[in-house]
Amino acid sequence: MGTADNETLSPAPSSPAPSFSQRREWSQDQAISYLMAQGIENPDCLSLAAGFVDFETLPVELSRKAYAELLDDPQTARKYLQYGTTAGSDRLRDQLIKHLAKLEETTVEELGIDRNQLVLTTGSQQLLAILADVLFDPGDICLVAAPTYFVFLGVLAGVGAEVITVEGDEGGIKVDALEAQLEQLKQEGILSRVKMLYLVSYYENPTGVSVDADRRQPIVDLVTKYSTDHQIVLLEDAAYRELRYDGPKLPSLWSCDPTHSQVVLAQTFSKSFAPGFRTGFGVLPKSLVQPVIDRKGNEDFGSSHFNQNLIATVLERGWYEDHVFEVCENYQKKRDAMLAALAEEFSDLQQEVSWFVPHGGLYVWLSVPEKLETGFNSELFAYATNVEKVMYVPGQLCYPHAERKNQMRLSFGVLNPDGIRLGIARLANSIRHSLK
Ligand SMILES: Cc1ncc(COP(=O)(O)O)c(C=O)c1O
Repeated sequence: MGTADNETLSPAPSSPAPSFSQRREWSQDQAISYLMAQGIENPDCLSLAAGFVDFETLPVELSRKAYAELLDDPQTARKYLQYGTTAGSDRLRDQLIKHLAKLEETTVEELGIDRNQLVLTTGSQQLLAILADVLFDPGDICLVAAPTYFVFLGVLAGVGAEVITVEGDEGGIKVDALEAQLEQLKQEGILSRVKMLYLVSYYENPTGVSVDADRRQPIVDLVTKYSTDHQIVLLEDAAYRELRYDGPKLPSLWSCDPTHSQVVLAQTFSKSFAPGFRTGFGVLPKSLVQPVIDRKGNEDFGSSHFNQNLIATVLERGWYEDHVFEVCENYQKKRDAMLAALAEEFSDLQQEVSWFVPHGGLYVWLSVPEKLETGFNSELFAYATNVEKVMYVPGQLCYPHAERKNQMRLSFGVLNPDGIRLGIARLANSIRHSLK
């Protein structure tokens, strides 16, 4: 019987292969899939690589309470268990307007948006993918800070977009470098191909840095200035916005665009609440609402209606804010443990090894001497995973063409403080070994 099944599953020798689309070719060999596979192949490693959120603070009790409330009255329960609309639950979108007003430290009236400009998506990742889909034809250009969120680099590759990097530092993307790049593209006559500037504005994945307060307005102004024959959309990915531990409270780039016609604000409940609900959202300029809804209609005509209502209950009941407070307290301890361990373990290598201090988010970005490569095929990666049993994300994944090879992303999301200390000690051993 086994033989018969296998015979049924294997293609007949004469059967030709499917003819795949160009987009299928472009989306091959994604770094995220390889990284996940590495994690699975090395289960005995301490992972400083996983971008997962902390297991211990995931909101089991709150979710149980909200779930019970949603199902309490059969009449309303049926409503939540039914399909919703493509744009998402009105209840959650109304809550989100209030929530955003708080984050922006303003009133709902001053915020100046209506529910129809909010689209709820399956994680914010879906919004990023849909925007790439509706904006880019093959060969169109996306400007990004370097390094940047590598999963979005995969999305851009998948639609055939060209990625041009702009230099950043501890204050995020550099305004003068952005201006020089836009001016150069204008001089070359290819500004018409620039469709988007993508920035992770708070506690960036991978570097942990935020765009400085005094760079925010100039960035929005520059994008507006160079939007001459068409609009260059500024996609503000604020996935980590609510994971703030210290440092200044920063206004969103979105708030620096008072007409709300230039900037898309993408946020998510994955980091601050639970990624399992896959609930994210975008605040869109009016011109982008219908294109995004049309595309989403083709994909799924609406994300999970039930999950959206669960999040709405959590917000409505005031449970969310307390939860975020607890989550931040916990991450702050883990961030501090990682920074202290780095300072201790690399005290003798201060000239060679450096890192940025994040004020929020989940990541620390580490640079090692240039002669030391960190990639999947490097001696350092092999030694760290096989001998010392610790994993990190090679920094070159976060550049479109692997431009820099001596950096790595470390996450303090999953391990507890003891695990983090041990992980950094093992990493330091690996780096010392490879430097010999
Ligand atoms: C910068 C950034 N943007 C967006 C996302 C997408 O997250 P989600 O789809 O869970 O909202 C992530 C996830 O790690 C991220 O790091």
